[in-house]
Amino acid sequence: EGVTSLQLKINGTVRTIQAEPRVTLLDALREYLDLTGTKKGCDHGQCGACTVHVDGKRINSCLTLAVMQQGKEITTIEGLAQGDNLHPMQEAFIKHDGFQCGYCTPGQIMSGVACVKEGHAGSDDQTREWMSGNLCRCGAYPNIVAAVREVAG
Ligand code: FES
Repeated sequence: EGVTSLQLKINGTVRTIQAEPRVTLLDALREYLDLTGTKKGCDHGQCGACTVHVDGKRINSCLTLAVMQQGKEITTIEGLAQGDNLHPMQEAFIKHDGFQCGYCTPGQIMSGVACVKEGHAGSDDQTREWMSGNLCRCGAYPNIVAAVREVAG
């Protein structure tokens, strides 16, 4: 299979990589662009560790090809903080201990941001439902929900 030139707009910057067309967005981020904040858990759409935003909507980056995301606005966990200021969702996860080992945390935070933005954090149940695609082996779920609910206000 041939290598092709892919242009991806990530966290506001257009980046070009040379990769095979079958490379997933997740692998493009981690292996071609060194954006390793986005995690690979299952690589099959079942854990949510790889969650990023594309045009403001969350997706599992392991389930989409990088080539399909050209021309769109991709946001990763690295793009949330503004300079030295963490995103409110990041602050809330720290405040509420929304993690233990931390492996699922970037995906949890990206899902949490989308949860609030799209109005799915109106109750604990609603928040749990929205966040149910993001698995946490440490079982930090109550603290994760508390963090998301705090940001929702
Ligand atoms: Fe994509 Fe698990 S790595 S959902």
